[in-house]
Amino acid sequence: MRFAKRMEPLKGLLTMEMNMRLARMKAEGRDVINLGIGDPDFTPPGHLLQVMKEAVGNPDYHHYPSSYRPEPLRKAIADWYRRRFAVDLDPATEVLPLLGSTDGLFMIHFCLLEPGDVGLVPDPSYPSYEACVNMTGARTERVPLLPENAFLPDLDSIPSEAIRAAKLIWVNYPNNPTGATATPDFYRRLISWAKENDVAVVSDNAYSEVYFDEHRPVSFLEFPGARDVGVEIHSLSKSYNCCGWRSGMLVGNKDLVAAVGRIKVHSDRGMFYPLQLTSVQALNSPADLMAGRNRIYQERRDLLVQGLGPMGFKVYSPKATFYLWAGVPNGVSSLDFCYQALEKANVWMIPGFLYGPHGEGYVRIAFTQPVERLAEAVRRLEKFLS
Ligand SMILES: Cc1ncc(COP(=O)(O)O)c(C=O)c1O
Repeated sequence: MRFAKRMEPLKGLLTMEMNMRLARMKAEGRDVINLGIGDPDFTPPGHLLQVMKEAVGNPDYHHYPSSYRPEPLRKAIADWYRRRFAVDLDPATEVLPLLGSTDGLFMIHFCLLEPGDVGLVPDPSYPSYEACVNMTGARTERVPLLPENAFLPDLDSIPSEAIRAAKLIWVNYPNNPTGATATPDFYRRLISWAKENDVAVVSDNAYSEVYFDEHRPVSFLEFPGARDVGVEIHSLSKSYNCCGWRSGMLVGNKDLVAAVGRIKVHSDRGMFYPLQLTSVQALNSPADLMAGRNRIYQERRDLLVQGLGPMGFKVYSPKATFYLWAGVPNGVSSLDFCYQALEKANVWMIPGFLYGPHGEGYVRIAFTQPVERLAEAVRRLEKFLS
């Protein structure tokens, strides 16, 4: 096969190797505690499963999605943004349902970038941003997220030649992998910077509904001028414990929303109608539907923070997301540390370098396991490190 050049930068081999190693250990009967999983261990709310079940059972609901009216889901998304963030969106032009936020995340690069352009990507960050920038033939410029800046990008430190060639900047708060959240001041500054430099902002708000105490995350679109310069992606995956459904949304700048819509006409035929009906139901749920789940995540977070800190991990207690970002004790590389912890303690964490060079020296710990398993993981790591 003679593959296209755009395939060259696609990585993922190491992740495959890690998954194979975990599967092998499981097959050998080893009780590995996997703290790498970015998929909630909770089930979707029962009333949503019921809606899905009934809709799937209706023989009339299995045609191409274009056979059904698109308005109800678009309206439910706009209503949810109004209730949750006080952001008014036109359902017809400023809202596009996605097959999970990954769908829009991928397409948006092909709307904006071509060879010679630059995509500004946080470092560390969710690896798909960089992979997609590189697939378009554009160049990735990594923008460091440093603990001294509360893991927010320092826009003034981006080299001016990179800004001149940049067409897009990714921001992701609440953040994977660091668990950091953004401040209103940051978004205001970002919007004026984007205007000044004519760079489109893409805000990834996939984790906005997993948060603790009164720290309810904001949306980039809440701030004046946001929809002139950018869009936001959001997803039901983490909000309602349903990563497998593939239901998300792109909202904001109508030109960009329309552009992604034009590509999607050719890449998919829209969302399975029973999933549309279930998504409408989910978005119209009471605001406190997931409060109990968030309290459980919080209990897990506190257990990890209290347990790992004294062992020498430099922990950054998150206000949102189900990830704990932690500096590795002893100064060994993140990959060595994770492999050693796997071999000697049967605990798996994700090495931070997978999220970019500035992730080196850290591990990402997902608290998508029951509190008893997390307590056991802490005991094993304590023994391993002593
Ligand atoms: C930061 C971030 N963005 C987007 C996604 C994709 O989520 P989905 O496609 O399920 O909406 C993930 C998944 O883990 C993520 O961590």
